[in-house]
Amino acid sequence: MISVSPVKPDFVAVIGNVDLREPLNDDVFAEIDAAFNRYGVLVFHGQPLTEDQQNGFANRFGPLGYPIAPFRPENVERLARKESADISNVDEHGRVLPESDPRVLITRANALWHTDSTFKRTPAKMSMLCAQSVVPEGGETEFADMRAAWDALPESRRRGLEGLIAEHDYFHSRMKVGLDPATLTPERRALLPPVPQVFIRTHPTNGRKSLYLASHIRRIYGMSEADGQSLVQELVEHATQRQFVYAHQWAVDDVVLWDNRCTMHRGRPHDPSIPRVMRRATAMDVGPSVPEK
Ligand code: OGA
Ligand code: MN
Repeated sequence: MISVSPVKPDFVAVIGNVDLREPLNDDVFAEIDAAFNRYGVLVFHGQPLTEDQQNGFANRFGPLGYPIAPFRPENVERLARKESADISNVDEHGRVLPESDPRVLITRANALWHTDSTFKRTPAKMSMLCAQSVVPEGGETEFADMRAAWDALPESRRRGLEGLIAEHDYFHSRMKVGLDPATLTPERRALLPPVPQVFIRTHPTNGRKSLYLASHIRRIYGMSEADGQSLVQELVEHATQRQFVYAHQWAVDDVVLWDNRCTMHRGRPHDPSIPRVMRRATAMDVGPSVPEK
C-alpha cells in the first residue's frame, strides 16, 4: 500500500512508500490514480527519475503530449525525448540563459496563472515535474484548487457561468509576457490556432465541477473581448485566494504531478542567475472539452 498524507482535506497529498523508478503494478497505480482524482496534486519526495522512467510513469495516465515550442531554436534540445518539456532556465551546456533568449519566454509565461495545454484542442490531463536543480529562495510552484473555488461561488453566480465557452490561444499568453507580435509568422500561427474550451468542467471520476481558467483565454464567445477579460480576471482573483492555494517548495528529486482538469498553477519568481532545472511530462486528456463538429 502507498501512503497518502493529505495537505488539505481534499487538495494536495504527499505520497510515500512507492519507488517510481520501478514499473508499477496495476494495483499500486490504481491507488495513485485514485489519490490523483481526489486530491488534484500529488507530491513525491526522493524520486531521482530518468527521462524514460518519468515518461513511462506519466504514460500510465494517458497518451503523452508533445511540447510545441514555436520560439525554441532548432537542434539544441537538452533532453533526449521529444515528449519531454524542458522547464529550465539553462541551455544545452547547462549555462543560464540570457533574458534575450527566446527560451526564456516559457518561464515568463509560466509565471502567469494557467492550466497546461488548454491551447490545444485536446488539452492536458496530467502534468508532472521532476526537479533536478532547485533555487534556495523563491521558485515555488503554486497550485489553485478550482473545484473549491467553484464550490465557494454563490449559486446565482454559478448559474451564469455554466455553458460558457472560452477561446484559448497560446500566443495570447505569450503576448502578455512580451512576445513581439512581429515574430508571430503565419507558420507559427498555423502551428497553434485558437481553440474552444468549456469554461466550467465536470470531473469525469467524481462529478465535481471546477472553473477552467488559463492565461491563454483571449475571449469568451458571446461577449466583447473586454467583458470576457474582466470576467476571467475576476474569477482568477477569486480562485487564487490563499485558502484555495498550495505553494510547493521544491527539493531536488521531488516529483509533483497535477490534474489540469481541476487545478491551475504558476511558477514564482527567483534570482534568474541561478539555474532552476525541471523536466516535465504531460499526459493528454481523452478528447476535446468542446465536442468537434
Ligand atoms: C509547467 C509550469 C511552473 C514552474 O511546467 O507547466 O507551469 O514552477 N511550471 O516551473
Ligand atoms: Mn504549466
